[in-house]
Amino acid sequence: SEREDRSPFKQRLLVVANRLPVSAVRKGDASWQLEVTVGGLVSALLGITDFEAKWIGWAGVTVRDEIGRKSLTEALAEKRCVPVFLDENLVNLYYNGYCNNILWPLFHYLGLPQEDSLATIWSFQSQFEAYKKANQLFADVVKEHYQDGDIVWCHDYHLMFLPKCLKEQNENIKVGWFLHTPFPSSEIYRTMPSRSELLIAVLAADVVGFHTYDYARHFVSACTRILGLEGTPEGVEDQGRLTRVAAFPIGIDSDRFVKAIELPQVKNHIKEFQERFDGRKVMLGVDRLDMIKGIPQKLLAFEKFLEDNPNWQDKVVFVQIAVPTRTDVLEYQKLTCQVHEIVGRINGRFGTLTTVPIHHLDRSFDYHALCALYAITDVALITSLRDGMNLVSYEFVACQASKKGALILSEFAGAAQSLGAGAILVNPWNVTEVAFAIAYALNMPSEEREKRHHHNYVHVTTHTSQEWAETFISELNDMVVEAQLRTTQ
Ligand code: G6P
Repeated sequence: SEREDRSPFKQRLLVVANRLPVSAVRKGDASWQLEVTVGGLVSALLGITDFEAKWIGWAGVTVRDEIGRKSLTEALAEKRCVPVFLDENLVNLYYNGYCNNILWPLFHYLGLPQEDSLATIWSFQSQFEAYKKANQLFADVVKEHYQDGDIVWCHDYHLMFLPKCLKEQNENIKVGWFLHTPFPSSEIYRTMPSRSELLIAVLAADVVGFHTYDYARHFVSACTRILGLEGTPEGVEDQGRLTRVAAFPIGIDSDRFVKAIELPQVKNHIKEFQERFDGRKVMLGVDRLDMIKGIPQKLLAFEKFLEDNPNWQDKVVFVQIAVPTRTDVLEYQKLTCQVHEIVGRINGRFGTLTTVPIHHLDRSFDYHALCALYAITDVALITSLRDGMNLVSYEFVACQASKKGALILSEFAGAAQSLGAGAILVNPWNVTEVAFAIAYALNMPSEEREKRHHHNYVHVTTHTSQEWAETFISELNDMVVEAQLRTTQ
């Protein structure tokens, strides 16, 4: 409540992420409609009550006029959000370009974009400049809202320069930076033209966090090999100053999902879906329509499974929800076409007059329908080629208290480190292996299924998002105290 938020005992937390937890849509009368974007980070931080949190980020729109800016700022203030305004050209170079066409594929082992070399060098430079400029704009907004003692928690690959910009403004700001994607092996990372500048900028933070121990290790190796700095078990040292580097695996607000299953609107959806798919086992994939999610490979594996198991052909349905994302980036447009082609072929091949094996939906699902879908699923198929963590696997497990379905999970998702003992781990590039895993999961004896589910359920409900955020913030508070002690000694 308002009263609690103003409590003098609460530490203020400024959460800075490229995307705000709400995105804005301008209505005809120039007012704004705000839509909640419930992702991992949002639900993680919604659960934190010990801090007075404020969000700073981009609302997903470019706003040209002052009136629009003012009214959007006011609308967002009610949600404790502060907008950073980016113009169209900057969004193109910074967000579509440097973030999503360069950093994102590189961090997921897809390499740098391969275009005509001269054009690439030119556009690379202008995208990098735009990236730095955008990061500075975020820092300027932080400055306007910062008060002594605040914690500033920067998120993700969009904002690698932010720690540096913030410390340049005020070296006493407590700055944490957390990466939600993988950090690749230094052998991949070192191909990045701006590799040193990026690392130096991140190291300005007091604490640098990753989802897994491996990502943290890769980051430390990149700093030692590329910058020649010293890596210690605590992090990276540069002339006596330590940047703490550690793994903080994120979780979900599991209670919210566990309780959702009991809601009447979710129960209605469950009934509706059960009737619709009666007599068939349900397999489910939920992904953003992104190259890293391995959707084409997953579809090919499902096709191979149908081919190899004719007895299953009319007894299983695969629901793939593929939420459109970053649609201005060419690679994403190509992927959409490719996925549609494969789905069409498989449905043409194995469909009948009344049913098709794949229900492919290019849209997001509302929360209640999604929970219901998770709950009625027999086998979840999450086969990312690379994924920082993948919280869909967690959400699925949290909604499966009664069904105890099987989870097929890529070994290249961060979640494989935590759910590995309960899931069937696969190499998503190996279509035959995934096809085999599907057959195995569908035929799995209930005793084994329950045991595997139990393992995952305990993990998901104990390692929650709240725990994640609290651990990171307390590490950041401790680090700052330690650093102060060092300098006064
Ligand atoms: C990943 C990133 C997030 C990002 C999300 C959606 O999970 O780690 O930072 O917000 O994808 O992508 P978008 O480009 O739509 O923000």
